[in-house]
Amino acid sequence: MSSLEFRRMLASDAEEIAAIEEMTFAMPWSRKDFWAEAVNENAVYIVGTVDNKIAAYAGAWISFEEAQVTNVAVHPDYRGQGIGTKLFARLIEEVKTRGATAITLEVRPSNKAAIKLYENFGLRSVGRRKGYYLDNGEDALIMWNTDICSIKSSNESEDLTMSTNQTMEDYQKSIFFPIGQKNDAYAKYFKGQSYLAPVAGKEFPIFNVTFEPGCRNNWHIHHADKGGGQMLICVGGRGYYQEWGKDPIEMTAGTVITIPANAKHWHGAAPDSWFSHLAFEIPGENPSNEWLEPVTDEEYGKLK
Ligand SMILES: CC(C)(COP(=O)(O)OP(=O)(O)OC[C@H]1O[C@@H](n2cnc3c(N)ncnc32)[C@H](O)[C@@H]1OP(=O)(O)O)[C@@H](O)C(=O)NCCC(=O)NCCS
Repeated sequence: MSSLEFRRMLASDAEEIAAIEEMTFAMPWSRKDFWAEAVNENAVYIVGTVDNKIAAYAGAWISFEEAQVTNVAVHPDYRGQGIGTKLFARLIEEVKTRGATAITLEVRPSNKAAIKLYENFGLRSVGRRKGYYLDNGEDALIMWNTDICSIKSSNESEDLTMSTNQTMEDYQKSIFFPIGQKNDAYAKYFKGQSYLAPVAGKEFPIFNVTFEPGCRNNWHIHHADKGGGQMLICVGGRGYYQEWGKDPIEMTAGTVITIPANAKHWHGAAPDSWFSHLAFEIPGENPSNEWLEPVTDEEYGKLK
């Protein structure tokens, strides 16, 4: 088998995941459900890929110290090869980093493979929900592990860093606007590769700016005497916008940011995701741009 890689789920994965869901469950979640989950800040979703195709996915909702597992599935072609075990270990690592100390889920008593998998991670059945599954009236076993901090992940010796292996071509398929050309004219103000595509005419220029995973621009300021500033509308992937002295704001498709004139700020991709936003200048008096120092690896390294 080619190498298995894990990364966070992106909204653009929703269609591929929904296809596996359809093959797997009697009551499958839809593409729209996964699309919404990708931007749910109280949820954690990871995917396992083989040759850039999704082979497995899992997710959980985080509520204070509890992680409620919503989905765990391995593509039928890849079951019984240990992928489910690696996937669940990664999910546990992820929910731990989000502050969860306990994990719970429901499972059909007839689902021997899943029960074995969960028992291997210390989950135990603590009760039943009668007639929980509407398709056949089967009960659900309620399983818990209330101390996931003591779980020794089977992958502990491996690098647990999430990575993206999405190619630019695959990413382009997931967004409506073109990625365009390498943004060489401004390369000195960026770390990593960015791309630029004009999407509107000269009367009111709008650009689609795309950042490869890890790419960001330097701190900068859009000066203006009156009015001015810039609008960003995220159209794909995941990234951040941060104003000096404030917390970073995560951006996913549909996030709109109004950057005030004269505010020091930066924007760019998350470490594990491509990122695109439309950008246009808000009209103002005497506009000018001032490029400043790069965002340090230390500051950027705190982002997920
Ligand atoms: C449940 C599922 C995620 C497990 O993934 P997987 O990659 O096949 O699992 P693994 O190969 O890592 O095996 C996990 C454990 O289950 C056991 N197992 C796997 N298939 C099994 C089967 N058909 N019957 C009994 N045990 C089985 C394995 O032996 C292993 O235990 P071990 O390490 O003690 O030997 C996968 O079968 C799946 O996607 N099923 C359909 C979706 C589903 O039921 N999801 C769970 C909903 S609650």
